[in-house]
This record gives sequence, C-alpha cells and structure tokens, in this order.
Amino acid sequence: MTRVGAASKVTSTPHTSTVTGYCVRSCGSATAVGVAATAVGVAATAVGVAATAVGVAATAVGVAATCVGVASVVSPAAVVAAAVAAGDGAAASFPSPSSSSHPVIRRTAKVTVSNSVLAAFSMRPPRVSLDTRLRRCLNRTPHYHRPSAQWQVALANRWADCIGDAAMMIHPRLARLALRAPFLFFLTVGLGLLGSLAAVGQGFATGHALAEVLTGGAAEELLWVFAVVFGLILSRSILLWTQSVVAALLGATIKLRMRREMYGRLLDLGHGYTTNLHSGEVQATLSDGLEHLDPYVSKYLPQAVVALVVPLTVVAYLATIDLYIGGVVLAGALFIAFGPRVWQRTLGRAGERHWASWTTVASRFVDGLLGMITLKAFNASRRFGRQLRDEAVGLYLATRHLLVVSLASHIVIGVTHSGGLAAAGLVGAFRFTQGDLSAAELLVVLFLANEAFRPLSELAQYWHQGYMGTSAANGIFAIVDAEEVLHDTPARDGAGAAPAVAGSAPTVRLEGVSYRYPGATRDAVDGIDVEIAGGRTLAIVGRSGSGKTTLISLLLRAFDPTAGRITIDEAEVRSLPPREYRTYFAYVSQDVYLFHGTVADNLRLARESASDEELIQAARDAGVHEFVAGLPDGYETMVGERGVRLSGGERQRVAIARAFLKDAPVLVLDEPTSSLDGENERHVRDSLLRLMKGRATVVISHRLSAVDFADEVVMLDEGRVVERGAPEDLLHEGGRFAALAKAQLMSA
Ligand SMILES: Nc1ncnc2c1ncn2[C@@H]1O[C@H](COP(=O)(O)OP(=O)(O)OP(=O)(O)O)[C@@H](O)[C@H]1O
Ligand SMILES: [Mg+2]
Repeated sequence: MTRVGAASKVTSTPHTSTVTGYCVRSCGSATAVGVAATAVGVAATAVGVAATAVGVAATAVGVAATCVGVASVVSPAAVVAAAVAAGDGAAASFPSPSSSSHPVIRRTAKVTVSNSVLAAFSMRPPRVSLDTRLRRCLNRTPHYHRPSAQWQVALANRWADCIGDAAMMIHPRLARLALRAPFLFFLTVGLGLLGSLAAVGQGFATGHALAEVLTGGAAEELLWVFAVVFGLILSRSILLWTQSVVAALLGATIKLRMRREMYGRLLDLGHGYTTNLHSGEVQATLSDGLEHLDPYVSKYLPQAVVALVVPLTVVAYLATIDLYIGGVVLAGALFIAFGPRVWQRTLGRAGERHWASWTTVASRFVDGLLGMITLKAFNASRRFGRQLRDEAVGLYLATRHLLVVSLASHIVIGVTHSGGLAAAGLVGAFRFTQGDLSAAELLVVLFLANEAFRPLSELAQYWHQGYMGTSAANGIFAIVDAEEVLHDTPARDGAGAAPAVAGSAPTVRLEGVSYRYPGATRDAVDGIDVEIAGGRTLAIVGRSGSGKTTLISLLLRAFDPTAGRITIDEAEVRSLPPREYRTYFAYVSQDVYLFHGTVADNLRLARESASDEELIQAARDAGVHEFVAGLPDGYETMVGERGVRLSGGERQRVAIARAFLKDAPVLVLDEPTSSLDGENERHVRDSLLRLMKGRATVVISHRLSAVDFADEVVMLDEGRVVERGAPEDLLHEGGRFAALAKAQLMSA
C-alpha cells in the first residue's frame, strides 16, 4: 500500500507532464514541443510496456502485490507522458493535485491492488466504474486537477484490461474441465516435463562434449557422452510420442464426458428450453464447439504447466552460471509469454466474431435443408442461396481477420525466440572474452537458452490451436448452466405420493393456471381451471392462437405454469419426478414427429419391449396396419428424416398407433384427425373411442366431428375460458361454440 501511495504521488507531483507543459509555454514552439513530447511519449510507452510485462509476469507467479508497486510507480508516469505526447500537454501542465489523498486517486489505487489480487487467482478484474459517487468527487475536484485524476482512472482501467487478459490465459472453467480426468491430465504434464528434462540433459551433455573437443580432449572419452546424448534423444522422442497419445486420450475423454453431459442436460431441460433455441446453432455447439475444446484442454493447458516450470528452472540454472545471461534469457522468456497478450483482446474479439459467423452459417444451412421444399415452392431458393453465400463470405472474412491477428503473434514470438538466443549467445561470448565464463559454460548456455524459450513458443502455438475452444466455451457452458425450466418441490409428508399408473385413470386438475412465454407481453393462457377425470373426455376448442397447445404443453409438463398449479389425484405435479409423471400420458401431437428409423422403431418409442403382435394390434387399432404391411419392407421400412417418406395422414395414424401402444391412463390428442380424409377419420374416430374407454382424455380440435363425443367442451379465447359445458348444451345456448359449429356445417 505504501508503494501505491507513492504511485499516486508520482501522478500528482510535477513531473514529465509539467516539464513538457513548461516547454510549451516558455518556448512557444510547437515543433520543439512536438519532438520533446514524442520522445517522452516513446520512452514512456517503452516503460509502460516493460512495467506491464513485469506486472503480468509477477501475477503469473503469484507475486501480484509486488508488481502492483512497480507498475503503479512507473505506469502513471507513462500514461501522463503519453498524454503529453498526444498533444494534451496544456492540460497536463497545470500544477498537479497536491495530494495523494485525492478521493478518485485513492479509490483507483485500491481497485488496482484488488485487481492484481484477483488476477493472481485467474479471475478477470473489474474496471473502475465512474459511478455517481466517483463522478461527484471528480466534479468537486478543481478543474486544473481533473486531468490527472482522469488519467489515473484511465490508467487503472488499462491495467485492469492488461492484467485481466493475462489472467484469462487460463480459462478457469476449462481448466476445471481438464481436471475431470486428473490422471490423464497430470500424465500429459508429467510426460511433457520429462521430455523437457531429456532435452535439457541433451543440451547439457552436448555442451560439455563439444567443450571437451574444443579444448583438445580425447575423442574416445567422448564416446560415452554421445551414447548418453543418443539415449536422451531416443527417450525424448518416445516420451513426446507417448505424451501425444495420452493427450489425445485426454481430449477424447473430456469430449465424451462433455457430450454426454450436454445431451443429458438438453434432454433434462426438455422442450420448454429447446423450443427457443436455434437448432443449427445448438448443433454447431454440440459438434464443432466440443471439437474446439480438444486442443485447449489436451494440449494448451498441460503445456501451460510445462511452460511455467521448465523456463523458470532453466533461467534459475543459467543465473547460477551468469546473472547477466540469466537476466537476458528471463527477459526474452517473459516477452514470449506475455508480449502477444498485448493483442489478446483483439484476438479474443476476432475469435468470437469467427465463432458467431460459423454458427450463423451452420444454422442457416440446416434451415435451408429442412425447408428446401418451401424454398422451391416459393422460388426462393436462389435468394436463400445468396444469403447463405453472403454469410459464407462473412465467415471467410472473419477467418481471414482471425488468421491475420493470430499469425502476427507468431512473428513476434519467432523474432523474440531467435533474438533471445542470439542475445544470450552474445552476452555469453562477451562474458567468455572477459574470462567470466568457461567454454563449457558458454556452450551449455547456448543449448539451454533454447530450452527456456521452446516450451513458451510451443505454448503460443497451442494457444492458437486452442483459443477457439474459449470462444465455443460460452455456448457450451450456456447449455450446461441453463436455468431449470421445471421447478420441482419435494413432496411433504407423503402429500405428493404418486398414484399408481395401473388401475383406473387418475384425475388431473388445472387450478388457476397461467403461462407467459419468455419475452411475451401477454399470457398465452390465463387463469384456466379444468378437470380431466377418469373415463371422461374434455374437449378444448378455440381460435388459432387461443392457447390450446400451450395448455397441453403445461399438462405434459414441458414447462411449469407461471401461476396456478396442476395436480394429479390431489398430488401437486411438481412433487413428482417429471419422468414418472409423464408415464401417465399418451400423446398425439399437432406436428407429428417421426424419427429417422423404421416404422417399428417409431412405434416402439412408446414401449420398447412391445412384441411384434402388440405392434400389429396397435397399428390395426389406429387403422394403419394395411398401409404399413403394404410397404416394401413392412414394419422394417425406413420412414426417412421426420418421416418424410410417409404422407401427413399416414404419419398421423402411425402416431395414433404409438399412443395405442403406450396404453397410458390419460390420453392427450392435439388435432388427432386433422390430416385424415373423411373415410379414414371415421375409422380412426371409432378406434379412438375404443381407446378412450376408461381413460381420461383431452382432445383439441377445430372440428366439431372430433369433439361432439366429449363430456365437456372448454372454449378458449386469448388464453381465457370463454365458454364451457356439454356440447349439446353449448349448441343450444347459441354462443361462440354454436357459431363455430354452424360455420362448419355451412362450409361442409
Ligand atoms: N414458443 C413460443 N414463444 C412465444 N410465444 C409463443 C410460443 N408458442 C406459442 N406462442 C404464442 O402463444 C399463443 C398461444 O399459442 P398456441 O400454440 O397455444 O395456440 P393454439 O391455440 O394451439 O393455436 P393453433 O390452433 O393454431 O394450434 C399464441 O399467441 C402464440 O403466438
Ligand atoms: Mg396448437
């Protein structure tokens, strides 16, 4: 803290800025000032870069507090001087605030310290927000003190960004993910360390061997050295090969676990969550996104440990040989490690843009494939193709931008690596000529310096392979962390005990049930009270968009009501596990979905263990057996994706057969006969009547013929019940239901 106080003083005492400002006034020469300011600016920027590098490095090794001191002392000077260079000399030339107790500066200093501590724990630190309190402080500051205070805030934020970028080199959640396979992870690290040890031993032995030769040693004595070197080269190759195999296993294991977790999560979240997602985007995240995690988890993270241990050890050893050489190699290593982080933020943004373009193209493509017939029917396929092409060009541009940004760091790393080796060699040669270094030591320095840089250069390469994983991680963790759509409450004192599925049909009640879709401005259903009792049929009718399907989704627990409750035989449904609750229902949806598989596969979704005879009986009941038996492979005929090889009516009858097969006590039918012709409708209607016997049934339909057998009709409008009663009563009353019936009779 004392040093931070000093930092504040640096900013607040007359220094570079004041001197330059003085030049502005006394010389009155813009050119002279410009030159002076630029010189100061360049120097200050260099100091700033050095300060940042030192600070960031210190953070990585956990000595954040020290680095704050150093950087706080140096950086304020750099920032204010840079302001002068930028032409803000006049503002900065005013007498500086006289105190380090300036509230803005005090607050900023505190944030800077806490940021550095946060960064030491690999957390992105917050920026200084100019909240109302701070703004008021700033407004009360005499106007000639303000620039200094503002620059201090700017500095603290720059610092927060830099240190945050460095801290985020390790994505904490991805690191935790890698540690889910601890044995494979540490084995990969261990093999990497042993490989480096072999390389160090190789350099050490080669250096000594060459020194022997150069100083006139006997060639025979060198034979064992070369045998050792050869052995080390061989073992290093074997170690690195084994490491790459173990790393591949690590990546595959993590991907397998994540894949299982994400699929499981999506299935748990269910329709209520997936209905608002773009399937193409989810598909891209599940397939490509997970693939991108691989290099980050299996290569980058293990190498990060190797790159922390090996260079530090080598530098420490070189420093015992010669402090100057140790210093030069340390500076080079730090620059390779943290230099490219200067544009990490740009790289991160480029990565996110690239990932966004990628998912857009992927989802557009899936959309186009699924809706191909619609595109063709409206002659819109060319237009759609143009959009797809534009998005593909967007992806190309994003990829190009990403490559330019990411490859720029390769140049810096390459130059620093070679330059660092050359500098270590030159300093070593100089020390050798001074007699401070032996020939053997000089050669060892030349060989070992490379081992200080190599793990860091490799780390940078792996970063470029793996940072897409950090972009994809957002989509992946969004699914993993998605808020539960269903909110269960544990049963109290047996109050939530589930009724047995076997036996008579249960009574399901909706009491004051309302639901509003996320982001909608009105409730899709509003205060509904209905009862679905065993052996009775409830029909729900209403205009399109009146909330019928929403009501069914609530009944099937795709999502929970926003108000009200649903009970089954007096048990609150939230107290039952959703899987158990759904065993009570057989469902025929408005948009029948058949999976890519055989007719039999699709029927057995309802009951996996159903025998062939049961399958055929269910198909007979639904009036679809003759049709299926007539297909080329009968029940083994592939229905195609979404059942495209069947007509709408055939699909609907297969779905009804599926409901027959499930034999559940509650039957939910959403427009079950909408795709059937008159003859088939009559046939299926008879089958449905048989199926409904002894069960509780809810049927939704626009058609009078599909609801005239109901015990009760509930008419919805804009989500509310507007009429209810027995169908014949409602017809007599002459209300909306009667009007609907009349309209249908007239059009028939
Ligand atoms: N996923 C959703 N997100 C937001 N609003 C939705 C969603 N699904 C439906 N809605 C809205 O909720 C209301 C009720 O829709 P619902 O599908 O329940 O109507 P419906 O009575 O079944 O209509 P139809 O007879 O045409 O099938 C409509 O206004 C609809 O626009
Ligand atoms: Mg509907």
